Amino acid sequence: MRGIQETLPRLPVPTIEQTLQTYLRAVRPLLSDAEYSHTLELVQRFKQSPGPRLQLMLEGRAANTVNWLSDWWREVAYLKPRTPVVVYSNGAVLFPKQDYTDKEGQLRFAAKVVAAVLDYKAMIDGQTLTVDMMGGQRLCMSQHSQMLSGCRIPGVELDNHVLHPTTGPNPPRHITVLHNNQVFSLDVYGEDSRPLDTVQLYQQLETIVEMSPKPVPSIGILTTRDRASWARNYSTIISDQANRSAMEDIQRSICVLCVDGEGQPPAGSDHARSLGLAQMLHGGGSSWNSANRFFDKILQFIIGVKGVCGLNLEHTPADGPPIAAIAQHVLAFCEKHQAPGLRASGAMTAPRKLLTELSGDILRNIAESKVEADRLVNDVDMQVWVYDRYGRDFPKSVQLSPDGYVQVVLQLAYFRLYDEPCATYESGSLRRFQQGRTDTIRSCSVDSHNFTRAMEDRSVSREVKVELFKKAVVAHRKYTDQVISGNGIDRHLLGWKLAAAEAGLGVPELHSDVGYSKFFYFKLSTSQVPVLHDMVLGFGAVVPDGYGVCYSPHASWIAFSVSSYLSCPQTDSKRLASTMKQCLDDIQTLLGGPHAKV
Ligand code: COA
Repeated sequence: MRGIQETLPRLPVPTIEQTLQTYLRAVRPLLSDAEYSHTLELVQRFKQSPGPRLQLMLEGRAANTVNWLSDWWREVAYLKPRTPVVVYSNGAVLFPKQDYTDKEGQLRFAAKVVAAVLDYKAMIDGQTLTVDMMGGQRLCMSQHSQMLSGCRIPGVELDNHVLHPTTGPNPPRHITVLHNNQVFSLDVYGEDSRPLDTVQLYQQLETIVEMSPKPVPSIGILTTRDRASWARNYSTIISDQANRSAMEDIQRSICVLCVDGEGQPPAGSDHARSLGLAQMLHGGGSSWNSANRFFDKILQFIIGVKGVCGLNLEHTPADGPPIAAIAQHVLAFCEKHQAPGLRASGAMTAPRKLLTELSGDILRNIAESKVEADRLVNDVDMQVWVYDRYGRDFPKSVQLSPDGYVQVVLQLAYFRLYDEPCATYESGSLRRFQQGRTDTIRSCSVDSHNFTRAMEDRSVSREVKVELFKKAVVAHRKYTDQVISGNGIDRHLLGWKLAAAEAGLGVPELHSDVGYSKFFYFKLSTSQVPVLHDMVLGFGAVVPDGYGVCYSPHASWIAFSVSSYLSCPQTDSKRLASTMKQCLDDIQTLLGGPHAKV
């Protein structure tokens, strides 16, 4: 991957005309006629002023930075929001169930996972990862080098993000291990700078387990708090010199390894996967594993009992696909490497227990945080399910984009349940550009709305329904192409708002309109992450009355996760999941597929 970055283009700034036209079309299904007329008027006014001035500012920024958006996006989307990172921002991956059943098996698998991460790290550091491709185009690889040895640091109004790259002075040689909520620093390289082999790692993990026989109150639970509370607690912690160095040790470490205790007992196989993904997302509450975490760390590999394992991702520096890549590497490495590897030389450094002296103030904060964490955890309604009647091969066989197909089916499921459309977010990659992250693919469109209404109307013929469905899928794919080529509208609209704030102009009228707030109220927040293994990814809903939907299409099946909040009487993850299953069946029947019920 060496040297490819500079050959990638820079993210363009779309034209005012194009963004405003697309905005009007995309916002239309969400507004009443009166609301739409008002938005139309504001769009016309914005075109006169302050649009042109703001556009010039963005173009100036684009000319003078590698990526006009990425720093802004990092701050607005990740570092600024004051909600907890757990559930509201961090993502989770549940690995396929492993076949270990006892503590020894758990530690042996944990040792392999660490060895796999170090193997991947060597490829990142040596810049030997194969360049990611999408649609025949090379993608920016910078996210890969930001996943390890980094951490988020809480601030009362704004968090910070630090990275300790291998090329920097005194690069990290250790990981953080949590067991029974106790925190350890573990050096994972030998005197010859070779990574410890899996036997050596296993011995070190065994020592850690012996040193932490019982759960204790731990600072890990503090990282589940809203950011301002955590920042205040953090200041108390680092006012003590030993604790300050311990926090720095965690922040500098390559990654976190959580050796978990029992998870909540499941009551069925889909239920087991739902609980497994929830364990990766939030730990299951203070009585289970939520305190055995450090949610500010970019990557936490979580090794639970009886084969339940996966990871948690703090989202600031990276999105789903690079995370799926490291997860896939870890699983492939664990399958392939049965031998321990090459032994690192010299005596191993004993693991060091950190944060052993916690003041009364900190212990009080921990007790408070447990209550808050349990409130949040108990509110999450997570459902994992697999649709196994067909996968992406069926849409392809009828010349439709599989992703567009799933998104339009999801629009149908939502409409069937709520009798109205909702603003829908799908992540679209901007990694064709230097330092690119994501923009929004708007899955709710005039075309998807025309289709969903027709589909639920018995008076509309099958032929018309088929035509409208295909039209909606084609429109979705077209919108996707617009987004991934740097012509999305969500980040452009955001850019104008941020440019206005920087120029001291206040919030433009267009951005304080009811249409604009409806446009950005995502009751469906969705993402497709393609994976090779049987793993499932998930995240929390972004609004209290919404859903988070993540899916990974395979050739003949699709893995889904759906999350929502139990405190909202209008949402129900199980109900959305079963409606989606029904809609996937119905659309195949409509198109006359192989399982069609005729
Ligand atoms: N007929 C037949 N085949 C078609 C087709 C059609 N009309 N349209 C697409 N296909 C094929 C594609 O060629 C592709 O083939 P491949 O499997 O051989 O590569 C396959 O179907 C899948 O294409 P499609 O379903 O249209 O979507 P995609 O794979 O291009 O993915 C996105 C779409 C939006 C998910 C992708 O562009 C993206 O941005 N991914 C990143 C998302 C992300 O960052 N998520 C994490 C956020 S935290």
